[in-house]
Amino acid sequence: MEQRKPRIGIMTSGGDCPGLNAAIRACAKTAIWSGYEAIGIHNGWEGLLEHDDEVLNVMRTSGIIDRGGTILGTSRVSPLRVENGVQRVKDRFNVLRLEALVVLGGNGGLSLAYKMFQQGIPLVGIPKTIDNDVVETDFSIGFQTAVQVATDALDRLRSTAESHHRIMVLEVMGRDAGWIATYAGLANGADEILIPEIPVTEERLEAICDKLKRRKNRGIYFSIIVVAEGAKLMGHNVLQEEHAGEDSPAPRLGGVGQQLGEILEKRTGIETRVSTLGYIQRGGTPVAYDRTLATAFGVKATHLIKTKKYGEMTSLKGVRIIGVPLAKVCDGIKTVNLSAYNVASKFFAQ
Ligand code: F6P
Repeated sequence: MEQRKPRIGIMTSGGDCPGLNAAIRACAKTAIWSGYEAIGIHNGWEGLLEHDDEVLNVMRTSGIIDRGGTILGTSRVSPLRVENGVQRVKDRFNVLRLEALVVLGGNGGLSLAYKMFQQGIPLVGIPKTIDNDVVETDFSIGFQTAVQVATDALDRLRSTAESHHRIMVLEVMGRDAGWIATYAGLANGADEILIPEIPVTEERLEAICDKLKRRKNRGIYFSIIVVAEGAKLMGHNVLQEEHAGEDSPAPRLGGVGQQLGEILEKRTGIETRVSTLGYIQRGGTPVAYDRTLATAFGVKATHLIKTKKYGEMTSLKGVRIIGVPLAKVCDGIKTVNLSAYNVASKFFAQ
């Protein structure tokens, strides 16, 4: 009788980002070449609850390294918030004869994965988020692409700002961490970068306005300001809309760019325009860095499963790809390392 192959399941959970398909491809192909069958679970944990999955063969995972999004679909559904959810996941896990799962997630997705691991589901995690705020790894899949998209946008805004002698404000994503703003602002040579890690006091706002006016007096009529969606203008209310579904309780951010633009225009008298980059940062082709990181993480995730290192997450530390305990991911978020911010700030308007 033919021996049945062991199976690993692969799922993407939470918000998408560029590079997910590269990781799915790497996981599935290395698993298949190591004697496993790979099962793609559709739409995160919802796929196990709703029995929505597919066999991933080499053909299905070929030609996708450069594709944005996720061929598996994603969702923020949590079995912990569904009646009998954990048992239903376990039942499906057993029916599919899975040995373990690979969960690609950001902070929320990996914390949920750890809770499911504690409930008895053998799994390993791969960090993916444009926000780059997962602790215990230098970079997450998707971040470098988002930085490139934001940098390209800033470069374009610079030329139109210069033509029209305007202040241009660009609001970028990042939730409660200012990584995208810091890296893209640094790469563009922005005149100011506002991030959630450094609350914007009234004094700072005044100092920024004074600098912009001084620049104008010196004959430099345009300025580029990057603001992270989670930045806080102290004393000013920022619009925050609550997510509708109970599976995604995190507040939806956005609006600080508009608010900042209005303040700057009013206080400096310089014409100001605001752009919000939004989901463009999350879509489309991953840059080479994200494809290579995703591939290295995918290979490592399969290795972690082969060696039964369940409850771990793939991580980049310097130039090494290692496994770290998923438990640590629940400890909080990785905020911007201020030495990177300080390099960017040396080029702020004077
Ligand atoms: O976490 C990634 C991210 O893109 C954040 O930068 C942003 O605030 C959020 O997701 C938007 O999420 P949603 O898909 O729920 O609108």
